[in-house]
Amino acid sequence: MGWPVRHSRSPALHNYFFKHYELAGTYVPLAIKPDDLQSALRALAPLGFAGCNLTIPHKERALAIVDEVDALARRIGAISCVVVREDGSLAGTNNDVHGFARNILQHQPDWRAGAGPAVVIGAGGGARAVVYSLVDRGAREIRVANRTRARTETLAREFGAAVVPIDWNDRHRALDGAAMLVNTTSQGMVGQPPLELDLQKLPANALVADIVYIPLETPLLAAARRRGNRTVDGLGMLLHQACIAWKLWFDLDPEVTPELRAAVEATLPTT
Ligand SMILES: NC(=O)c1ccc[n+]([C@@H]2O[C@H](COP(=O)([O-])OP(=O)(O)OC[C@H]3O[C@@H](n4cnc5c(N)ncnc54)[C@H](OP(=O)(O)O)[C@@H]3O)[C@@H](O)[C@H]2O)c1
Repeated sequence: MGWPVRHSRSPALHNYFFKHYELAGTYVPLAIKPDDLQSALRALAPLGFAGCNLTIPHKERALAIVDEVDALARRIGAISCVVVREDGSLAGTNNDVHGFARNILQHQPDWRAGAGPAVVIGAGGGARAVVYSLVDRGAREIRVANRTRARTETLAREFGAAVVPIDWNDRHRALDGAAMLVNTTSQGMVGQPPLELDLQKLPANALVADIVYIPLETPLLAAARRRGNRTVDGLGMLLHQACIAWKLWFDLDPEVTPELRAAVEATLPTT
């Protein structure tokens, strides 16, 4: 559910699983206006839905609507996945956190969040999931730079001493000595300008990840690859969070396979 529903890969992704498991179900994108979110969520059970995903702008508002919010979603301050329980009540969680880490680990199995300083660019909803995931996995220093400084300070207050707010203009220098760099802004996404970031100070062995996945290789990832850094694109985060949803909705454990990735990649715009 989102408003409006644009560029969603979710129908292709979840309908791939329905086909894979030979289940007679379907995943539908629903454009729900913010004021209709409560009625839409309450209609899930009578309509026979197992659950839904929520996207902008519903993730925060749903916190006050569902019957139970797990600790993870409460800490992030956003629900990305709703599960309809047997009695029709609604449980909300956030799949983005584990989706991020599982994606990095699938591509770089020896990655350890505590290996060295991480730099996170951005402080929006995606950043909150990334920062939470890094803290949860033992990162001791997460330098966060966001265009709007107040949001980095909120993150530091909420997620603890590991989060170090960095001035937007100092983001280039903050790459010095970093073990990991993650872009969580919308910059570099199709239709948006590239993220302005000078990679000169980034160590050659740092891992660079982008949570933007349209295009798959953002200008940031292309620049990092050209200078020899290892890179991880954002599509896997989406695929992994979908697998987590299937465990919650249907008690099934799909994996992120090359076939799944190819099926979803085929739906991405080529320009
Ligand atoms: N791979 C995945 O599964 C996944 C999951 C979640 C999100 N995403 C992607 O991540 C991106 C961000 O999503 P979100 O939900 O975090 O959005 P959001 O909550 O709206 O946050 C947007 C972020 O981008 C920054 N930003 C926007 N325009 C900017 C500009 N011109 N210059 C510098 N910074 C700018 C914002 O900074 P300010 O605070 O200054 O506005 C904020 O940090 C989207 O492309 C989304 O598709 C991917």
